[in-house]
Amino acid sequence: MTTAPAAGHRVVMIPGDGIGPEVSEAARRVVDASGCSIEWEIHEAGAAVAERLGTPLPEEVVEAIRRTGVALKGPVTTPVGHGFRSVNVTLRQKLELYAAVRPVRSLPGVPSRYENVDLVVVRENTEGLYAGLEHEVVPGVVESLKVVTEAASLRIARFAFELARKQGRGRVTVVHKANIMKLSDGLFLDCARRVAAEYPEVACDDLIIDNCAMQLVRAPERFDVLLLENLYGDIISDLCAGLVGGLGVVPGSNLGDRCAVFEAVHGSAPDLAGRRLANPTALILSASEMLRHLGEDAAADRVVAAVEAALADPAHRTRDLGGSATLDEYTEAVLRALRNG
Ligand code: NAI
Repeated sequence: MTTAPAAGHRVVMIPGDGIGPEVSEAARRVVDASGCSIEWEIHEAGAAVAERLGTPLPEEVVEAIRRTGVALKGPVTTPVGHGFRSVNVTLRQKLELYAAVRPVRSLPGVPSRYENVDLVVVRENTEGLYAGLEHEVVPGVVESLKVVTEAASLRIARFAFELARKQGRGRVTVVHKANIMKLSDGLFLDCARRVAAEYPEVACDDLIIDNCAMQLVRAPERFDVLLLENLYGDIISDLCAGLVGGLGVVPGSNLGDRCAVFEAVHGSAPDLAGRRLANPTALILSASEMLRHLGEDAAADRVVAAVEAALADPAHRTRDLGGSATLDEYTEAVLRALRNG
């Protein structure tokens, strides 16, 4: 663990692995230049830690976030089909980070097929199929349990409607498959409708997930707040990222009543790791969400403005956005825009 000199807010940083350390360093430099004073507490998690300590998520990391209440996290690789349980999922469950929020909006200067996209994905973050409750019944037969509770469904629905109210958004669309999963998704939908009745100023409608995917690709500008259970939220978040330029530009937060962990929607992008070609925008914008959460709205606005200024010049865009800038060239452009702003 390394600690920076004394400053304003204390924030845990988990650099992660793959492209995580590169994009985390870029985000940290931008936050440090934003005029907000942060004391970073750096903690490691993931496969390298598991080799040393026998667990990919040491309890001291969870404790550090409980203590500070806030973390900025780079992506952490999860082995496919075997190996340790996802650090990301474990962290969300241990800290009761029940709401994943992904604001998805068209950024000026980012080439994409659509304009005027401005929606928010609100994903239930603690249960559903994503909890990974699986077992082998007999060889060749496995079961995966989808647990949906009334308490968690009411909690996330209330979160989504409160967000709509606070942000002046007019509609929450509940996304489900209650025609097939009549009990589990039926409960989720029913809870959302009950909560909707308490928010007469916010319209509420619902869509079956497959239809929702199609409608999003046809006319994403028609959507406002999307409320989804865990697995659907995971998949639709990536789809929505694709509407506005890809995973390199969409930020995220995992919020609970006591703690908040800010991280991009994207993963560790092993294909780009160590090459300094990844786009750090998503984590930089996640950091701006973190600044807002800390009450540092002016610094958050400065970061967003600097990102938009840097992206406005095609020479600064990274490869995922059709440009040829490296992570470092782009980050320097954001830092210059911050200094000149
Ligand atoms: P991924 O998001 O890492 O990559 C998908 C595609 O998007 C790749 O082509 C990648 O190069 C590109 N991409 C992602 N982030 C980018 C960025 N910042 N700039 C430019 N291009 C970017 O998804 P994938 O490959 O499915 O997952 C890789 C690993 O990440 C897995 O182990 C997965 O479990 C983990 N993961 C971790 C997450 C987290 O820590 N919150 C979230 C999602 C996945």
